[in-house]
Amino acid sequence: MIYIDPPFFTESGFKSRKGEGGFDDTWVGGLDDYLSFLRARIELMRPLLAGDGSFFLHLDWRAVHYAKVMCDAIFDRRNFQNELIWSYNSGGGTKARYGRKHDTILWYGKTAHPFFNADEARVPHSAVIAKKRAHLFHPAGKVRGDVLGIPRPPNHAAEWTGWPTQKPLALLSLLVRCHSRPGDLVGDFFCGSGTALVAAISEGRKAFGCDLSSDALAIARKRIATLEIDRSGSGRQVMSKDPVTS
Ligand SMILES: C[S@@+](CC[C@H](N)C(=O)[O-])C[C@H]1O[C@@H](n2cnc3c(N)ncnc32)[C@H](O)[C@@H]1O
Repeated sequence: MIYIDPPFFTESGFKSRKGEGGFDDTWVGGLDDYLSFLRARIELMRPLLAGDGSFFLHLDWRAVHYAKVMCDAIFDRRNFQNELIWSYNSGGGTKARYGRKHDTILWYGKTAHPFFNADEARVPHSAVIAKKRAHLFHPAGKVRGDVLGIPRPPNHAAEWTGWPTQKPLALLSLLVRCHSRPGDLVGDFFCGSGTALVAAISEGRKAFGCDLSSDALAIARKRIATLEIDRSGSGRQVMSKDPVTS
């Protein structure tokens, strides 16, 4: 599984909370420059996927529609699986338009039928099922829809590292559980604070990441170092210690 959460074409810069670096998302050649940057990298990522592997591209309203057309060409549009909406609904609103409160995650398979563990994506049925119809429904619930309502970690949350644009662990843990098996390899080439790597290792997967910023990598390494390997062999391989206290 490969997940990337690259700069979104915000045409601005991001500073970390503690002033330890950040990253630039401005593009001298505008959108064309940005899309060529993405294309060159995604084209190199696709061959790295296993035959039943999945690729996720996390963007927002600014460039996702251009990136979708581009990825349809790179992956073959028949291998497109879902447009996941991460709905966070936090922060203030504006009087000018509806609040922009979601990001979009495009899911492509290397082939038309990538691995998907539907049982990890189950949520309760929307109503109590009548006994006489119970045989028609899965007892563990239905497979969730493509809108993922997950809050952003607030600044006082233990998981919050201060790295700008850090994504919630709950979102990445869900993707890791649904799209990889224990022992599989998960890669994130724009790993920032390392959320995807922490999620993967915590779920008993192997992980690798890279980032342009050495400050981001220092944060990611520190987060990974707070994971304690459970060598008892029971259940999940890793437990997370509270990063604030450890
Ligand atoms: C949206 S953030 C990723 C946040 C990450 N998902 C997290 O949860 O912390 C984008 C990241 O891409 C990195 N980046 C920017 N340009 C890059 C490049 N050319 N190669 C690798 N990483 C880059 C930035 O340093 C930043 O950490």
